[in-house]
Amino acid sequence: MAVIKTLGQFIIEKQADFPYAKGELSRLLRDIGIAAKIVNREVNKAGLAEILGDAGTVNVQGEDQKKLDVFANMQFISALTSGGECCIVATEEEDEFVPIDSPVSKNAKYIVCIDPLDGSSNIDVNAAVGTIFSILRRKSVEGMATLEDVLQKGTEQVAAGYVIYGSSTMMVYTTGKGVNGFTLDPSIGEFCLSHPDLKVPEEGYIYSINEGNYVHFPEGVKKYLKYAQAEDAATNRPYTSRYIGSMIGDVHRNLIKGGIYMYPTTSSSPKGKLRLMYEGNPMAFIIEQAGGTASDGFNRIMDIVPTELHQRVPVFIGSKKMVDKIEELMKEYSPENNLNAPAEKTLEQLNIVGGID
Ligand code: AHG
Ligand code: MN
Ligand code: MN
Repeated sequence: MAVIKTLGQFIIEKQADFPYAKGELSRLLRDIGIAAKIVNREVNKAGLAEILGDAGTVNVQGEDQKKLDVFANMQFISALTSGGECCIVATEEEDEFVPIDSPVSKNAKYIVCIDPLDGSSNIDVNAAVGTIFSILRRKSVEGMATLEDVLQKGTEQVAAGYVIYGSSTMMVYTTGKGVNGFTLDPSIGEFCLSHPDLKVPEEGYIYSINEGNYVHFPEGVKKYLKYAQAEDAATNRPYTSRYIGSMIGDVHRNLIKGGIYMYPTTSSSPKGKLRLMYEGNPMAFIIEQAGGTASDGFNRIMDIVPTELHQRVPVFIGSKKMVDKIEELMKEYSPENNLNAPAEKTLEQLNIVGGID
């Protein structure tokens, strides 16, 4: 009989990888797992429970909120509040970060950035949706944490993961030592280890992009799409196109099968559509830990220094060779799209002011 390992057992076992860990991160992951199970229950019965459709509200990014966006947001905030290990929740659904101002939480070590429900426009049609989370360690040591504590680079993440509510429900996460996937067994209500040490194939044959935006794409992306669609037996082209419209669904499939997911800049989203803190960075951490690459077309996503909570970022993520190719074409055909190009140094910074005859 195969031995089942639950998420809870696995987390406790892995705590030994962090010699100074006191169990706070483990408890935080457990709190996220519990909230995910409640959201999963609601997503599963969405059609019955009158929670399909719009909530009638708009979030800070001007997007219509679905009832389940609002429900998921509340569930995660309340699980993280009662868990006591998190001092701030920064979420897609709230304009400002949410400080957890309880005596236990305000000195807690961790910050959670979260997209409570990704791909929520898919709910009404029964396609995969998910939750994405990024865990940071706060920088300040006491008192209420601040925005500076939240605005950390992706390389500073201590853990990241997603839960996909699909044909089965899975939690996939990393703490920087590889990526593991757990499938929810509804009969026992536990996430069980099903995909240990996930690796994304180095070369893939699936590309995922909203091609309806083609005319608005940078030239480098247009060239890549022509490359992907060209006939070449040696490199297994033309590639296959698959786009669910839920980043989690598309990235999860590509993680398992190999592929690239792209959301470039467009004329309506000149800085990209996806958000750095709770979409770009956590997915980048997972994919890199699985051996893949995550780029904004020019730079590693996790190296970007954030300046705003809801900052956007163009995303090219997945199999290493596919992301390398798009970076090559972006550099050649779209250098003006490099949003995070290091600023050119002034003469003063170069310390040669007055030094040129
Ligand atoms: P969210 O539902 O959290 O707002 O995110 C939706 C995102 C992403 O998951 C998806 O891939 C993308 O937006 C789809 O955008 P388009 O409809 O513009 O293709
Ligand atoms: Mn999203
Ligand atoms: Mn969302």
